[in-house]
Amino acid sequence: MSLRAAPRRVLPPDASVPGAPPRHVAIIMDGNGRWARARHLPRVMGHRKGVEAVRRTIEAAPDLGIEVLTLYAFSSENWRRPADEVSDLMGLLRHYLRTEIAELHANGVRLRFIGDTARLSEDVVAMLEQAAALTASNRRLTLVLALNYGSHDELIRVARALAADAAAGRLDPAAIDAGAIEARLDTAGLPPPDLIIRTSGEQRLSNFLMWQAAYAELVFTDELWPDFDAASLKRAVDTFGQRDRRYGGR
Ligand code: IPE
Ligand code: IPE
Ligand code: MG
Repeated sequence: MSLRAAPRRVLPPDASVPGAPPRHVAIIMDGNGRWARARHLPRVMGHRKGVEAVRRTIEAAPDLGIEVLTLYAFSSENWRRPADEVSDLMGLLRHYLRTEIAELHANGVRLRFIGDTARLSEDVVAMLEQAAALTASNRRLTLVLALNYGSHDELIRVARALAADAAAGRLDPAAIDAGAIEARLDTAGLPPPDLIIRTSGEQRLSNFLMWQAAYAELVFTDELWPDFDAASLKRAVDTFGQRDRRYGGR
């Protein structure tokens, strides 16, 4: 897309059909540590069980009419965790990518990644690029993994890109509008999330999709992420179905 193209307003969504399923569901997968602690297991066991919940959720999503599923897997703040936990999480990510991409591809899943992924290990970056290229034309479900993702970091990168374009004379600062920002977000080209689910009873966004969530419906559940399954997803989608989305317009 040309940077000079008149940016189109994407948010709030132009067509919200009452009663329609959420096109884009984003999940803050929280509670792995508490799941493990309740069982006197090491935290990594909670993360491993969490991967099983990821599989179940991906499998269940298309049947509920979901087109895009975004999963918050590692935040830009999660580097603050103890080094051995960060290393366990990166190891699980590596293992997941190595073992699941072929099956995701066979099931028509298109993979995308958001976050500052360039700062992950070289071998992981290579796998992400390969996975995105391999699955680019799949249409059954778009799976977006948020890796080293944080809204503040994302918006800082957007601001830098806008400033660089303005400084180079490619962009008139007065022409910066919502579309210009959205075109530079990691989620460019994706619809905004209709429904954001957070497990484990916490009720905060933790730096997740803060621009994109402007008109998302938020559903909080006390379930811990390793316990999340198709029925949990269905419940959240049903709750979404009872919400009255107004977008400030009435
Ligand atoms: C979510 O579970 C997984 C990641 C944030 C990577 P947590 O590890 O945050 O689990 P709790 O919140 O400590 O229970
Ligand atoms: C949010 O969970 C990040 C992910 C799910 C990847 P955290 O457990 O890191 O969030 P806080 O620390 O409770 O806000
Ligand atoms: Mg947590």
